[in-house]
Amino acid sequence: MTRGQQFMQWIDDRFPATKVWNEHLAEYYAPKNFNFWYFFGSLALLVLVNQLLTGIWLTMHYNPSAELAYASVEYIMRDVPYGWLLRYMHSTGASAFFLVVYMHMFRGMMYGSYRKPRELVWLFGMVIFVLLMAEAFMGYLLPWGNMSYWGAQVIINLFNAVPVVGEDLVTWIRGDYLISGATLNRFFALHVVALPIALLLMVFLHIVALHAVGSNNPDGIEIKKNKDENGIPLDGIPFHPYYTVKDIVGVAGFLFLFCLAIFYFPEGGGYFLEPPNFTPANNLKTPEHIAPVWYFTPFYSILRAVPNMEGGVVLMGLSIVILFFMPWLDRSPVKSIRYKGPLFKLALALFVVCFVVLGYLGMKPPSPLFTLLAQISTGYYFFFFIFLTFYHKIDKTKPVPERVTH
Ligand code: HEM
Repeated sequence: MTRGQQFMQWIDDRFPATKVWNEHLAEYYAPKNFNFWYFFGSLALLVLVNQLLTGIWLTMHYNPSAELAYASVEYIMRDVPYGWLLRYMHSTGASAFFLVVYMHMFRGMMYGSYRKPRELVWLFGMVIFVLLMAEAFMGYLLPWGNMSYWGAQVIINLFNAVPVVGEDLVTWIRGDYLISGATLNRFFALHVVALPIALLLMVFLHIVALHAVGSNNPDGIEIKKNKDENGIPLDGIPFHPYYTVKDIVGVAGFLFLFCLAIFYFPEGGGYFLEPPNFTPANNLKTPEHIAPVWYFTPFYSILRAVPNMEGGVVLMGLSIVILFFMPWLDRSPVKSIRYKGPLFKLALALFVVCFVVLGYLGMKPPSPLFTLLAQISTGYYFFFFIFLTFYHKIDKTKPVPERVTH
């Protein structure tokens, strides 16, 4: 034995290092037909690490008080060495996170990755999604700009829609009778400690659940059904080195676009950092038009599509809750879009169109035409989930091959 092997043996006698490495990487057999859409899981991990690291370094210079928060962000941007880079990596990273996660979820919808036996992978994913929304919402208050303030005002006030206890609930969340330093302090605590811990835990469970059942793939075939005499799936390849190396291509492509955004369009034309946030929070001056950051606007549009606030809040909540039920709503005999009929393809394409339209409308000031469009898109958004329960009766499927195709 070499010294290196002796050292590993010493570790392995006390901790299952080699066992974990083999089970989850070197001997984790993943389907050999992963395509472009399978980059987004590893990219989500990359962005998560980016947010954690840049977040820790921002915290070293940020001051979570109503008096100093805005100034401390300006100080980070101007005086802290590379502070501007840390901040842009974090603020652009938030948008990148949602972009990557939306692509990742869409992949799941295309290939039926939420179906049996991966229901828990999807459910843990949905919990991650909700936590991520809470994380982004609370992070947005921290620079204490005017949009931070008024955005939080609008969203926290939605809790007024809760019957009986609504008003008390709002005061409890704010920790004050208006959004103040107390609100900022608790959002800071949740944003930098509580939610990241919860997110990390859920991502861990997400991957444990996935590795327990194995990955789905663009054909929607269970590779574990075809094994060789050694029990190795015939259509599987070891995750390491094959996919660790392949994922580097995704990472390179992503970093190219990410750097382009950070260095040339850090404000994303007002979509990553909104113009009113370049003035400090002012409770006497409402921004002309309050809109959340782009990744929340599809849901914000659903909220505004209903004329009364209570109805809007309920519908917006439902639009997220219904996603949790995907695994049980879809009753198709095949998983992947490749073997589903034209009706499903059309329905999914329309769902994406409506989601984008809702996203666009949520950024614009309301008008009678826009409200009507938002109502139609909202109607279709919900119809899609009803469609999932019955399309298998009318949509022709193609025969699914025994083995994965190339
Ligand atoms: C921080 C956010 C997330 C991270 C870091 C993450 C990470 C991953 C990773 C590394 C994989 C395996 C590689 C791959 O299949 O792409 C995966 C698979 C999966 N994720 Fe996520 N994920 C996140 C959020 C979500 C969300 C929000 C959902 C949906 C609600 C979701 C649903 C799934 C599903 C269904 C699979 C299995 C895909 C398949 O085998 O075809 N994930 N995730």
